Amino acid sequence: MAAFSSMHCPPPYSSSINGGKNRSFIFSASPRFSVPAKAKVFVQSPGNSHQNAVLMQDGAVAAKVSPVEKETPIEKLKGDLLSVTSSKEWDEETGFDINENESTVSIMVVGASGDLAKKKIFPALFALYYEGCLPKHFTIYGYARSKMTDAELRNMVSKTLTCRIDKRENCGEKMDEFLKRCFYHSGQYDSEENFAQLDKKLKEHEGGRVSNRLFYLSIPPNIFINAVKCASMSASSGNGWTRVIVEKPFGRDSESSAALTKALKQYLNEDQIFRIDHYLGKELVENLSVLRFSNLIFEPLWSRQFIRNVQLIFSEDFGTEGRGGYFDHYGIIRDIMQNHLLQILALFAMETPVSLDAEDIRNEKVKVLRSMRPLQLEDVVIGQYKSHTKGGVTYPAYTDDKTVPKDSLTPTFAAAALFIDNARWDGVPFLMKAGKALHNKRAEIRVQFRHVPGNLYNRKFGTDLDQATNELVIRVQPDEAIYLKINNKVPGLGMRLDRSNLNLHYAARYSKEIPDAYERLLLDAIEGERRLFIRSDELDAAWSLFTPVLAELEEKKIIPEYYPYGSRGPVGAHYLAARYNVRWGDLGVEQSA
Ligand code: NDP
Ligand code: BG6
Repeated sequence: MAAFSSMHCPPPYSSSINGGKNRSFIFSASPRFSVPAKAKVFVQSPGNSHQNAVLMQDGAVAAKVSPVEKETPIEKLKGDLLSVTSSKEWDEETGFDINENESTVSIMVVGASGDLAKKKIFPALFALYYEGCLPKHFTIYGYARSKMTDAELRNMVSKTLTCRIDKRENCGEKMDEFLKRCFYHSGQYDSEENFAQLDKKLKEHEGGRVSNRLFYLSIPPNIFINAVKCASMSASSGNGWTRVIVEKPFGRDSESSAALTKALKQYLNEDQIFRIDHYLGKELVENLSVLRFSNLIFEPLWSRQFIRNVQLIFSEDFGTEGRGGYFDHYGIIRDIMQNHLLQILALFAMETPVSLDAEDIRNEKVKVLRSMRPLQLEDVVIGQYKSHTKGGVTYPAYTDDKTVPKDSLTPTFAAAALFIDNARWDGVPFLMKAGKALHNKRAEIRVQFRHVPGNLYNRKFGTDLDQATNELVIRVQPDEAIYLKINNKVPGLGMRLDRSNLNLHYAARYSKEIPDAYERLLLDAIEGERRLFIRSDELDAAWSLFTPVLAELEEKKIIPEYYPYGSRGPVGAHYLAARYNVRWGDLGVEQSA
């Protein structure tokens, strides 16, 4: 698990580069992307001393416990295999390397000249390097059409690297060391020849070691397939693993998403495809399962019996500036709801998985998605921001963006009510709200509990029954926190009730800076941990929920409700919530810090 990996990163690198804690060794590596898996065995990481220990919340090792199951000793496993194949063959065939000196990891940032690469990918790779999470032999290659030298790439990258606030020590030195490991190759995305040149350069760096290669496709989706094809034909690893991280959007409806998956699978196995949804890498989203499954007090309440509604809220206080061209083709439902918010919903609502293994978790998530009702038009409200002048400053309308058509109906805001038709969640509204150019930047999950039956203190609350109910808030960002609103007595004589928060405020509790989601996800991809990546059946199920309503919105040319830049969004969202007897939890003034 990434959570453990991150804690274990500092030297040496947490594991051999072939896999994570429960690593999946693929016994057979084809020189091309399509690695036919002859057999798959799960073993415990041998060198991981914390496997036998209880990790306390501050990372301390509290007590030794016996493993529940006897581990398969790695030597025995290797011995068994050696009975059918020689040592050299074994290493070659598996790509598994007990001695990390024998392996390399090359990370190719395809689209290195772009916004995401500069903003997120290179800084995340540096943070991993700084923390000692990258393997001993690693090389980073930027690939794009722009003409650049290695020095120019390093110069570009250096401008976006930052050091952790809590760890500035040796930062400059570390940056220099990191930059020395970054190289650039200019090439076309549809040129096998250009990728073959990259392959040649990679081999020089790999120096005959087992080569593991991770391609990060940080390019517009229309060139994904060409890039995958060329990388597959000309630059995949000959003796180790080859993995590809694919950035969203994964299509724009069921059909285009299925076509993308089909095309990718011409060159890759599902196991090699890492579909990224960076919200899954956010600390508090990771923490959802811990909260539910490791605290006795929450899981028994996690159902229609006690929960009135669940709200998933995303807002940004800026518009689509700079990304209008992309955004206009997708809109907020595809950009945020169908992926980020739906993924959180699935994690929130899933049944207890058999284990923390990626497939067990993804199996449960997919069950939730498949139990959901496709979204209905009457359960959706859309909006688009318009220009607004405040304090002498004029903020633009969405359609003021030069890359957006003047008559665009693309929603920059949407609210929706979704339902999970299973025994646990029957009838509970899951309300989603996502918008750009709103009054604040925030992502949170709000769980509103039912009223206390026959509450002895009802009279004290007057008519506002919402005041009397508990609400659990998981604030994903900014200023991460988990707080539970409870009722208590105001101290003193008499009986006056108050509402207070039991608050886990991360900045107050932990001095350590929270890693960026991309760090966790990149590390997981290097380690072969798939838990936080989206499987193709999850993606299909997610699109099935949204495709009909998206088609209807577009066919009927539904006009969005216009809201001023910097406002709280369209009033339609309140009517939608009111229809289900819900009040958005983010609207009141509340004590949260
Ligand atoms: P960019 O538009 O910046 O494109 C990345 C690079 O791809 C460019 O530098 C350019 O490099 C090349 N490129 C751009 N357009 C074309 C084209 N039409 N044909 C061929 N090459 C092209 O994208 P981002 O960096 O913003 O995003 C990369 C991916 O990540 C996209 O799929 C995006 O949807 C996704 N994403 C981005 C986020 C962000 O915040 N930026 C957030 C979440 C996802 P060159 O010309 O040098 O070849
Ligand atoms: C991306 C969306 O996936 O997530 C953007 O395409 C959005 O439109 C971004 O701004 C938000 O991510 P974060 O991590 O800044 O909340």
